[in-house]
Amino acid sequence: MTIRRALGSDAKKLYELEKKLFSKDNFPLSQGSIRYHLKNNLLYLSELHGNIAGYVLVLIKRKNAKLYSIGVDETHRGKKIANGLLDSVFKELAIMGFENILLEVRVDNYGAISLYKKRGFEIKKILKKFYGDGCNAYLMGLDLK
Ligand SMILES: CC(C)(COP(=O)(O)OP(=O)(O)OC[C@H]1O[C@@H](n2cnc3c(N)ncnc32)[C@H](O)[C@@H]1OP(=O)(O)O)[C@@H](O)C(=O)NCCC(=O)NCCS
Repeated sequence: MTIRRALGSDAKKLYELEKKLFSKDNFPLSQGSIRYHLKNNLLYLSELHGNIAGYVLVLIKRKNAKLYSIGVDETHRGKKIANGLLDSVFKELAIMGFENILLEVRVDNYGAISLYKKRGFEIKKILKKFYGDGCNAYLMGLDLK
């Protein structure tokens, strides 16, 4: 298993994984958006035998970093791949001088919330009816220093 920064040539495979991970209701990234993020943000992937097992996308704007999305192929879950992706991207963010990172997560996404809490994220706020289906979100933050 290798974790590395994603390249333009990974866009198609990332899009295939994205469609498996997120249904239309959960607004999967289009291939065009993936290409945009590859150029302008931080996208790391985990690769196994030439296949992408997972990815993490962090949006970076001036001094702010936001964990936009993380996903691991169902067949590879529970093998600490998300943990490894977060290690890599947090290391890069620290080198780039970012001091903290924020994210929003559905309050019913227990697996992701558990992952984020284990990594030290704390709930900062509840964002009411944040998602299209009326679901609330937690705004969570982590100090990277
Ligand atoms: C959330 C997700 C990324 C976790 O990926 P993963 O590679 O299976 O996670 P890891 O194996 O690295 O887990 C690390 C820790 O996170 C926590 N965790 C991860 N998935 C969990 C789950 N389903 N239930 C409870 N805790 C979970 C555990 O504490 C775990 O540590 P442990 O194994 O020592 O208990 C994966 O389930 C996924 O892709 N879900 C669908 C997409 C999604 O909802 N993404 C988040 C919103 S963008």
